[in-house]
Amino acid sequence: MNITLNPHSYMQAKPKHVNPATFTSNYQTIGKLRPHCTYFFRDDLEWGSFARYLNLHFKNTDKVNIYNAACSDGTEPFTLVMTLLTTLGKEKSEKFFPIEAFDLNTRLVKKAKTGEIHFLPGLYGVIDFLNLKFRTLFGDTRFLSYKKQKHGGLGVKMNDDVRRMVNFRVGNVISKVRNIEGENTVFLCRNMWMYLTEAERIKLAEKLGQNLKKNSVVVLGQYDLSNSNARKLLLKNGFEETYVDKVYEKMV
Ligand SMILES: C[S@@+](CC[C@H](N)C(=O)[O-])C[C@H]1O[C@@H](n2cnc3c(N)ncnc32)[C@H](O)[C@@H]1O
Repeated sequence: MNITLNPHSYMQAKPKHVNPATFTSNYQTIGKLRPHCTYFFRDDLEWGSFARYLNLHFKNTDKVNIYNAACSDGTEPFTLVMTLLTTLGKEKSEKFFPIEAFDLNTRLVKKAKTGEIHFLPGLYGVIDFLNLKFRTLFGDTRFLSYKKQKHGGLGVKMNDDVRRMVNFRVGNVISKVRNIEGENTVFLCRNMWMYLTEAERIKLAEKLGQNLKKNSVVVLGQYDLSNSNARKLLLKNGFEETYVDKVYEKMV
């Protein structure tokens, strides 16, 4: 199922109130138009295959460090927590937690910390709901409870034990990546490269190539492929494609 809810269409629209040339990063322009479009189990990643891949790839590793850059309102890292637990079970998933998640947007990070996520309006909300049911094999209430929102729509509240598996912080990927170093690291930077300037993209890919060592993995989103040169930059900086689409491994 392919959902056309993404920054792409917003990027096509020329904002009337700003001159993009006055900004050093595309973030301010796109962020004004649609700051955090995301949804549970975003369908540009084969979540189940990704979890099985992680299990196999790190089978001889006791601890794996997962970073989730541009985590938005928390939907993405919570999706990963639910996927790992549903696909691998508690014991095999433990080494992947906690997930270190960050986003540039202070308001979104504050929201993510509460574990309360409201569904998008209309059809998107229905898809969120159905995905939560099916992708957790109807085990959704192990992870969350459904909640009517103040404005009338439906949303969820993640259970405390799921919330504890993710640490949320405010952070810019360009500065964060400088301090992330080591082996056995998974770095999700999905659907965010188009917010960066070309110079920032080059810097990010170079730093990922330099700092992530043996066994490390980088994950992109569909809009990084269609709206940026992220894939090309990763391949240039020591990563290679894997059998899971949009998942790249550090070459040793
Ligand atoms: C389209 S959402 C993607 C959310 C999620 N990763 C996904 O794929 O569904 C883009 C997010 O990138 C964040 N972002 C943009 N530029 C960033 C930067 N330089 N550092 C960290 N986060 C950034 C925005 O605040 C926004 O929440």
